[in-house]
Amino acid sequence: MYKPIEVTEDIFYVGVNDRTKHLFESLWPLPQGVSYNSYIVRDEKTTLIDTVDICYSDLFMRKIRSVLGDNPIDYLVVNHMEPDHSGSIEFLVSRYPNIQIVGNKRTLEMLKGFYGIVDNVVEVKDLDEMSLGKRTLQFYMTPMVHWPETMMTYVRETRTLFSADAFGTFGTLDGGVLDRQLCPERYRDEMIRYYSNIVGKFGSPVQTALKKLANVGIDAICSTHGPVWTIPENITGVIALYDRLSRYDAEEGLVIAYGSMYGHTEELAEIIAGEAAENGVKSIVMHNVSKSYESDILRDAFKYKGLIIGSPTYNNKLYPAVDSLVSALQNRGLKNRFFGYFGGFTWADATARQFEAFAGAMEFETVAEPVIMKQAMLADVVEKARNLGRTMAQKLTSGTEVVQQV
Ligand code: FEO
Repeated sequence: MYKPIEVTEDIFYVGVNDRTKHLFESLWPLPQGVSYNSYIVRDEKTTLIDTVDICYSDLFMRKIRSVLGDNPIDYLVVNHMEPDHSGSIEFLVSRYPNIQIVGNKRTLEMLKGFYGIVDNVVEVKDLDEMSLGKRTLQFYMTPMVHWPETMMTYVRETRTLFSADAFGTFGTLDGGVLDRQLCPERYRDEMIRYYSNIVGKFGSPVQTALKKLANVGIDAICSTHGPVWTIPENITGVIALYDRLSRYDAEEGLVIAYGSMYGHTEELAEIIAGEAAENGVKSIVMHNVSKSYESDILRDAFKYKGLIIGSPTYNNKLYPAVDSLVSALQNRGLKNRFFGYFGGFTWADATARQFEAFAGAMEFETVAEPVIMKQAMLADVVEKARNLGRTMAQKLTSGTEVVQQV
């Protein structure tokens, strides 16, 4: 039997860890796994907030029973219908046939669409309240953080916010669940990776949600992934990080991502990076797109203010993995970056044309003349590469526009 994990008085954690899956959404690597978080609010009307991935329904049920024993659950609040959180709903309903499922109009449409459930449902609207006895739930509609039905649920008496995917991280909860029981630093980059990979397209809805919550007093943030945030400076920190990421603001640093078949484009990347370092940029991350995960490159592109991408011409287009990266950045509407590009061709250049179109489509400031070489490097190309590294460094280190790490 599991020992109940209390978040605060009468609110319990009943989530699970996934150290088995390789790819989240069958796309994003999980080197440190992921947790699917669920919570119980124990009151006169006992309430479960979200469920877990279907693979963990049995374990989930044992955790619930370790808190509630044979007592019933009155409500299931569904903040988010993506199956990593809704996957155990059918199983739950089979065990608690009288449970009432609480969601907004879109939640209930999806509940019917995914699971055929139409009975015992309660529809709530923005800012509606629901009394559980001693405690009151209040619902905040936060569409597109990350799906259109996404909402957050707030317990006013304990100032606890169940935030769905927002403020979530990749990475399992290895022992501790609350931030005061673990090393929060471990999760910072995984929060940025989660945000950039999963939520990154929805900066504007995230800003709307943050504004809606601006005057809500919060003593605990219970996300659907990763640690529960309870330490005041952590709560402030994760909100500030979300604010920054959703404004597409970034910290001082440079990411250089390149494709290279035979090493020529990579040589340019090294020259550019060396020159940027020589001119004062300390945080430089280089990614060979053929080896790095796109997931990690997206994380760093959201993290750092400087972005330089390199590619050989391949079949009259960008190198395939660079093409994919460029598309992923465009899909997420990344903006406010100092940008540069470089690459090469053997008989007909498509690199410059493709990158120029990309830079034009994004709200990037192209900081220097492109560096395009034919076949291999000549002196003038080397000088252009140095100029790109140097100019990028000047932009990054002179700036009032670059923010400090939060
Ligand atoms: Fe963790 Fe959008 O689901």
